[in-house]
Amino acid sequence: MTEPVLDVHLTPEEAAVALRAEAKAGLTATPKWLSPKWFYDAVGSDLFEEITRLPEYYPTRAEREILVARAAEIAATTGAHALVELGSGSSEKTRLLLDALRDHGTLNEFVPLDVSVSALTDAARQILADYPGLKVHGVVGDFTEHLGLLPGASPRLVAFLGGTIGNLIPEERDKFFASVRDVLEPGEWLLLGTDLVKDPEVLVRAYDDARGVTAEFNRNVLRVLNRDLGANFVPEQFRHIALWNAEEEWIEMRLRADRAATVRVEALDLDVEFAAGEELRTEVSAKFRREGVTRELAEAGFELHRWWTDEQGRFALSLSRAIG
Ligand code: AVJ
Repeated sequence: MTEPVLDVHLTPEEAAVALRAEAKAGLTATPKWLSPKWFYDAVGSDLFEEITRLPEYYPTRAEREILVARAAEIAATTGAHALVELGSGSSEKTRLLLDALRDHGTLNEFVPLDVSVSALTDAARQILADYPGLKVHGVVGDFTEHLGLLPGASPRLVAFLGGTIGNLIPEERDKFFASVRDVLEPGEWLLLGTDLVKDPEVLVRAYDDARGVTAEFNRNVLRVLNRDLGANFVPEQFRHIALWNAEEEWIEMRLRADRAATVRVEALDLDVEFAAGEELRTEVSAKFRREGVTRELAEAGFELHRWWTDEQGRFALSLSRAIG
């Protein structure tokens, strides 16, 4: 079988350096924070898959509904020769786009970008096996840093799905959109999935499910630090918190220490003090409105071309064109 081509812009050593640097910055800050990037080891990725099937977690189903309805239109509008996917590349949603572009007759290359070599290799192999004749050119990298040299023949369609853009705070989003615009030529496309502002109760339930899967996903980041940085967090002593920040219009996930504790982080030669009740922020998941998305994209040099939502108006998919 043909092997996928992989460009490695981020080695495991570089990822380890980044984890150490970010963990040190976040655990010594007031208030304490950790980046949601570190949720996704093998266990965390499985837990996230489980989250996407929870009754309370609507974004995955809502986005799929839009893609099912609009994939053919996306293919016809863009006539893309290459699909670049930022984040996981094996999902059902990727396939909806690949099928539509293949049926439209323009697709010849798939470019998945992910931080994990193993996730990328698995995804790329599966896509190769299922789409004979398709070139698969994976890029191992962090989408906030390694967009520099995206392969693929013009016109390209860059897809950033799932609402993962919400993990970035506004300044980071501006930088990110600008860097995507930078690598594109005028007339190329960005397909963006954004979860929308709605009833806070619905939002909070999506991040604090009855079965406690999201709580386990949240605590898993502590297990990642235990394993990869030689830390000694006791995850069971941290309570899962999901709250709606109405001012910023984002969901925050936190872990609250239920008692005072000193956590040793061997790889950082660091002792971290937690007061009883102290909270560690582990994720921001911003929610959007059409006007804000339109403005942020325009400021980066994109023109919003189409805006679609699911039937219930919970999630949006937007298609934008890079302008000259
Ligand atoms: C993968 C970032 C889109 O923010 O909804 C799910 C991650 N966190 N439940 C999201 C997540 C808690 C998810 N993203």
